[in-house]
Amino acid sequence: MKKIAVFTSGGDSPGMNACIRAVVRTALYHKLEVMGITHGYEGMINNEFIPLNQKSVANIIQRGGTILKTARSARFRTREGMLEAKRNLEKHNIDGVVVIGGDGSFTGALEFSKVCAIPFVGCPGTIDNDLIGTDFTIGYDTAINTVIDAVDRIRDTAESHDRVFIVEVMGRDAGLIALRSGIGSGAEAIMIPESKNDLNSLLKRLEKGRKDKSSKIIIVAEGDETGGAYNVSKIVKEKFPSYDVRVSILGHIQRGGSPTCMERVNASRMGYSAIGALLDGHRNVMIGIVNKEITHTPFEKAIKHIEELNPDLLRMMEILSL
Ligand code: F6P
Repeated sequence: MKKIAVFTSGGDSPGMNACIRAVVRTALYHKLEVMGITHGYEGMINNEFIPLNQKSVANIIQRGGTILKTARSARFRTREGMLEAKRNLEKHNIDGVVVIGGDGSFTGALEFSKVCAIPFVGCPGTIDNDLIGTDFTIGYDTAINTVIDAVDRIRDTAESHDRVFIVEVMGRDAGLIALRSGIGSGAEAIMIPESKNDLNSLLKRLEKGRKDKSSKIIIVAEGDETGGAYNVSKIVKEKFPSYDVRVSILGHIQRGGSPTCMERVNASRMGYSAIGALLDGHRNVMIGIVNKEITHTPFEKAIKHIEELNPDLLRMMEILSL
């Protein structure tokens, strides 16, 4: 292996830059040449290849977003798009690729491996934490800290007015941001796509607490089957007109900001290990960290949807928020 490429793909997440830095510097240490591809798979199709050196990744470990930019590419889902991407990788003599992204990015890499023999290794970059084979994805820790910081502030005003706040957090298909930030912020309830009974139990709890005038925080994952915070607020207002209900949608602020220390260290370990994996002949695997150890999970397995969240954490959440 003489030359590798690295790119970020899908939604950006804090810590991606720390990962890029680790990939580049580890590759250079092993005397590999490094190219960055900008705008993800879209840039691979458009021939957006740039050489990277030690200096290109200086002063980025603390920055959110991705210096390589990112995109969601519809063209890469077509055969023509993939063949164009393959031609460009071959034109630049790329022997191995590190893709930093989430389930869509790894699904793309798997499909691509049917038309292109160049090995791909993945680093899990998504705030959603919805990949199998790692305890934490790059971006998750920062995102949940951003959420609890926001909820702490919302709690101040909610408590002053005795209001019920429905706070919507990201997570199109997964409730992991809602679960952990719900526990960390002491929310009264969470609503997540993995549980189909949470609306009923929320209504029961509100019924029980009707006379209690203190504030309540309900965290709703955007992918919850109720359709999100506005729908939940409508249902709550209809059932309990006496509650003073407000909605807050945290949105993309969850994707930005300086990565936490844990994020930077995890992302560095994963980027460093991705180069080790390519040099050891791995392909189509995602680097993860499970119980503090580096792991390699085949893309097919990593992208399997997490259907059940840790039942013990869910139970604890219920008990602690009584
Ligand atoms: O996959 C990460 C994520 O932040 C999801 O939680 C969210 O639903 C989605 O990306 C939003 O994507 P976009 O920024 O393309 O609207």
